[in-house]
Amino acid sequence: MKALITGASSGIGRDMAYYLSDKGIDLILVGRNLDELKKVKEKCKSKATVYDLDLSIKENVFKLYDITKDENIDILINNAGFGLFGNFYETDLEKELNMINVNIIAVHILTKLFLKDFIKRDKGYILNVASSAGFMAGPKLSTYYSTKNYVLKSSLAIYEELRHMNSNVKISVLCPGPVETNFNKVAGGSFNTKSATSEYVARYAIDKMFKNKLVIIPTIKIKLAVFLTRLVPTKLLLRINYHIQNVKIKKYNKNKD
Ligand SMILES: NC(=O)c1ccc[n+]([C@@H]2O[C@H](COP(=O)([O-])OP(=O)(O)OC[C@H]3O[C@@H](n4cnc5c(N)ncnc54)[C@H](OP(=O)(O)O)[C@@H]3O)[C@@H](O)[C@H]2O)c1
Repeated sequence: MKALITGASSGIGRDMAYYLSDKGIDLILVGRNLDELKKVKEKCKSKATVYDLDLSIKENVFKLYDITKDENIDILINNAGFGLFGNFYETDLEKELNMINVNIIAVHILTKLFLKDFIKRDKGYILNVASSAGFMAGPKLSTYYSTKNYVLKSSLAIYEELRHMNSNVKISVLCPGPVETNFNKVAGGSFNTKSATSEYVARYAIDKMFKNKLVIIPTIKIKLAVFLTRLVPTKLLLRINYHIQNVKIKKYNKNKD
């Protein structure tokens, strides 16, 4: 088998690469940081190929498909992504447009192109990495939350289309809560609750993907939190989320000084 993982140079994507390579699955690893990708490749037990591509650039996303489409990929993992903390009126517009390109546009393009191929072969797994943020609106991290809503909802819709076709192609969507990775450093926040390790989340996600689980939430705490969001009135949930993100920003700024 062969898997393509975007965002494989660190965090959850890197640990997914290690776990899949332990299972003897060959890998195509994508990110911008070539040095880190090469380090991951060296530690993989199976064959790995690396491509340093900035997926915020649409042409690079099509290029990635063009150079990998004949590789008989069995597993597509759309994992690359990042966030940005701050008030919507203050956050950097260019960074957010980049985020929308990586978190939404690249996922959209790769999912569509590989899904067509997978449907023709009537096999393949797609694992899209959303977030528990995909179930809510996130004041002070609003663009990120919105992008993850897109990833979650579009994956759910594709699942239902595949089910109606009796297709053997499977789609899963990973929705973790806080995970210890470079996410905070990139986004400018600090988690205020205990985070899961990326190794645990990666392994849990891959195991559930192979079991055709649709929505994958790795910890009991986040499963419960997601359930509770359905019971809380919208405006109260917005207040709670505002408070949570605000504390993360304050903690980050305090540690920075
Ligand atoms: N950490 C959390 O708490 C958490 C929770 C829920 C969901 N998630 C999601 O999990 C996924 C992985 O994030 P992580 O937590 O593992 O953070 P991370 O350690 O910062 O990893 C992010 C990965 O995305 C890649 N990436 C970012 N921008 C890119 C671009 N323009 N082009 C290509 N690759 C790019 C990075 O590679 P390069 O820097 O080499 O480009 C890196 O490999 C993301 O989609 C994130 O939203 C994370």
